[in-house]
Amino acid sequence: MAGTPEKDAISGQSTTGHEWDGIKELNTPLPKWWVYVFYVCILWSVGYWVVYPAWPTATGYTTGVIGYSSRAELQTELASARETHSDKIAGLAELGVQDIASKPDLANYARAGGAVLFKENCVPCHQSGGAGAFGYPTLADDSWIWGGDLETIEQTLTHGIRSNLSADTRLSEMPRFGDFMENAEILAVAQYVKGMSEGTVQEGRGQEIFLEQCAACHTSDGANPVSDGNPMLGAPALGDQVWLYAAPGQTMSVEDIAAQVRNPKHSTMPAWGGRLKDSEIKMLTLYVHSLGGGQ
Ligand code: HEC
Ligand code: HEC
Repeated sequence: MAGTPEKDAISGQSTTGHEWDGIKELNTPLPKWWVYVFYVCILWSVGYWVVYPAWPTATGYTTGVIGYSSRAELQTELASARETHSDKIAGLAELGVQDIASKPDLANYARAGGAVLFKENCVPCHQSGGAGAFGYPTLADDSWIWGGDLETIEQTLTHGIRSNLSADTRLSEMPRFGDFMENAEILAVAQYVKGMSEGTVQEGRGQEIFLEQCAACHTSDGANPVSDGNPMLGAPALGDQVWLYAAPGQTMSVEDIAAQVRNPKHSTMPAWGGRLKDSEIKMLTLYVHSLGGGQ
C-alpha cells in the first residue's frame, strides 16, 4: 500500500505515497493562514479555561481566576430589580383593585405586568389584545357578559365560569328548550331575536315567546322587549350585534340562534385562583379593564 511520494503528472502536486488499487492521494496541505488561526484558537481556549469556569471536577467545576458565574450575575440583577420594584410588589399584594387603579404609577406597573400574563395565559382563547373568537368573548369592547367593573372582572378571573376548578365559579346556564318547545316556536323566537339584534322589534308570536321564556334571563328588566343582557346570570345581550357564538364581526343566523335555543352551548372558562398568584390576578384585572371597555 505505502509507496514513495511522487509528483502527480496532471496537477503537478506531490502525492502522499498511499495507494489503493492504483488510486493515489494528492498531498494538499492546509493553507497557512488556516493553520495559524487554528493555533490561535487553541491558545485562546487555554486562556479561557484559566479565566472562566470550565472543567467539571468530582465535586463541582473549576471556577476560573475571575470567579465569573452567569447564575450569580442573574441573582444580583434579580435582587436589584426586586429592590427597585419592592414598593410596587408590596402594593399589589396589599391593595384592592380599586386602590391600585387610583394610583397611576402602580396601575401602570400592574397593566404592564398584566399584558405579559395575558399573553402567557389568555391569548390561546381570547386572542391577542382580547380580540375574541367564536365562543370566546372579546374583552376589548364594552359589551360584558358578566360585567366589566374591576371587582367583577377580578371575580370572574379568580373563580372562572362553569369551571370545575372552583366551588364559587359562575354557574348559570341556558336551558335546553328543545326538550319542551315546538320547533315552530323555536324558529319564531329565533326570528324575533335576529330582528331585535338588527334593531327591529316585531310584535307577534316570537315576541310573546321571548317575553315568556327568554326575557327573565336575557333582559335587564323582564318587561323590556329588547335584550340588554343580565350580568347577574351571565346571559348575553341579544339586542346588540355582539355575539359570543359568532366570530368577531360575524352575526348569528336565525338557524344558529334556533340551534342555541334547542340545544345550547355552555362555554367554560378556567378558574385562575390558585393557579396564578392573587397579585397576578389583580394585574390581569387592571389590564383587561384597560383594553377598552372597562366600566
Ligand atoms: C380555555 C379558554 C379560556 C382561557 C384560557 C381564558 N378564558 Fe376567559 N373566557 C373564556 C370563555 C369561553 C368565556 C365566556 C364564558 C361564558 O360566559 O359563556 C370567558 C370569559 C371571560 C371574561 C368575562 C367576559 C365578560 O364579558 O363578562 C373575562 C373577563 C375573561 N374571560 C378573562 C380572561 C383572562 C384574563 C384570561 C387569562 C388569565 C382568560 N380569560 C383565559 C375562555 C377562556
Ligand atoms: C336561565 C337563563 C336563560 C334563559 C331562560 C335563556 N337563556 Fe339564552 N343564554 C343564557 C346564558 C347563560 C347564555 C350563555 C351561554 C351559556 O349558557 O353558556 C345564553 C346564550 C344565548 C344565546 C347566544 C348569545 C351569543 O351572544 O352568542 C342566544 C342566541 C340565546 N341565549 C337566546 C335565548 C332565547 C331565544 C331564549 C328563550 C327561548 C333564551 N336564550 C333563554 C341564559 C338563558
